[in-house]
Amino acid sequence: MNSPSATATQSAMGSLHSPIDGTATIELEVNGVGVTRRVNARLSLADFLRERLDLTGTHLGCEHGVCGACTVVLNDEAVRSCLILAVQADGSRITTIEGLAETDHDGQIISIHPIQRAMQEAHGFQCAFCAPGFLMTALCFLERNPAPTRAQIREEISGNLCRCTGYQSIIAGVETAVEIMAADRREGAQDA
Ligand code: FES
Ligand code: FES
Repeated sequence: MNSPSATATQSAMGSLHSPIDGTATIELEVNGVGVTRRVNARLSLADFLRERLDLTGTHLGCEHGVCGACTVVLNDEAVRSCLILAVQADGSRITTIEGLAETDHDGQIISIHPIQRAMQEAHGFQCAFCAPGFLMTALCFLERNPAPTRAQIREEISGNLCRCTGYQSIIAGVETAVEIMAADRREGAQDA
């Protein structure tokens, strides 16, 4: 018979947790696709995305929550996937950088996301190692605040590190994204 504490732990880890071998089956939605995998309970969400799903666009820099390179969107919140266990994401919706562009059935890109277009136009990045993290952070931010000031943009992206650009081009890219997304919204309203 389980002790009360063992039962509580088991319950907190979800009904699919297997305490015997330290693995669990998780079900989640990644970039709009349902995914079910058995994972080690200690596997980080970042390693799960990169190693189990081959979504290597999520980059790993510091692996301890400082650089923001591993940022993904979890249920509409930008999170650092190196700090979250894959089992903690059970039942959630994840968007990675690979989920931004619109693709056809063969996975060919039909059109890139307005925020990607904006960064391209503004020449936002140099090596672009930091780009996925900045884009996912900015995307969540602009959904909450579609018309931010420059100061608000600076504040929002201040948790993401870039070792190449000095940040000005990235800020300009987010400002360009604000303009493009506003124009898209106006166009959508006219078409409706
Ligand atoms: S790799 Fe996750 S914050 Fe740096
Ligand atoms: S563009 Fe190189 S780290 Fe940001």
